[in-house]
Amino acid sequence: MGPPGAGKGTRAGAVRKLYPIAHISTGDILRENVKSGTELGVSAKRYMDAGSLVPDDLIIKMMESRLNEEDAKTGFMLDGFPRTVAQAEALDELLKKMGIQLDAAILLEVDDDIVIKRLTSRRVCSACGAIYNVIAHNTKVDGVCDECSGSVIQRDDDTESVIRNRLSVYHNETAPLVKYYEKEGKLRRVSGDGPPDEVLTCLASIKN
Ligand code: AP5
Repeated sequence: MGPPGAGKGTRAGAVRKLYPIAHISTGDILRENVKSGTELGVSAKRYMDAGSLVPDDLIIKMMESRLNEEDAKTGFMLDGFPRTVAQAEALDELLKKMGIQLDAAILLEVDDDIVIKRLTSRRVCSACGAIYNVIAHNTKVDGVCDECSGSVIQRDDDTESVIRNRLSVYHNETAPLVKYYEKEGKLRRVSGDGPPDEVLTCLASIKN
């Protein structure tokens, strides 16, 4: 968990190199659906472009199906889900059915002004999804992905006005989950403000 731009995607990619479990990002799944023009993608696009949340019923259905895929059987790291109390309750139900327990809910904490700076300078590879930043971590060749040579672009929702709406949606709808997981004794707080390596060291030292 964490506000937009907290570093959830970047850090999940790095953690995955240490622990080879599935990294399941609802944002990435939705963007893939938008790109390939599926029914879900068509319904989700207008919410994503505005920086609002895609309705719970669509997300819950999508995640039920994703968590039943083969690679999720040996564990997974969720990125961007759950984002509302209704989604958290649906996840609890789903995990119960699967006979597994959530180990931890990790909250990456970053101030709003840092988020705006990071997201207006973020770039992503349109082919493999690698994440860059024109200020902190740019590609070696301008506009070309270091990993796969795909073209590196700016996300449609990374404009300042949409970022401000995403932040307000986060504070109103997702932040209440902090209490939800605190109550369950699952919440682990990590500062996302420091240099990437420092954040990763804190994440790697988390105990269940
Ligand atoms: P999603 O794709 O999940 O977007 P988000 O939560 O807004 O998060 P971001 O991907 O923007 O940020 P991040 O925390 O992953 O940061 P990153 O690692 O890239 O969702 C998009 C949309 O889909 C939503 O708005 C919504 O419409 C919909 N959606 C998704 N899930 C949903 C759900 N469950 N329910 C309903 N709707 C849903 O890092 C950001 C930048 O900072 C990068 O450039 C990076 O290089 C840089 N950076 C990262 N860490 C550091 C550091 N420590 N120091 C310096 N720079 C850093």
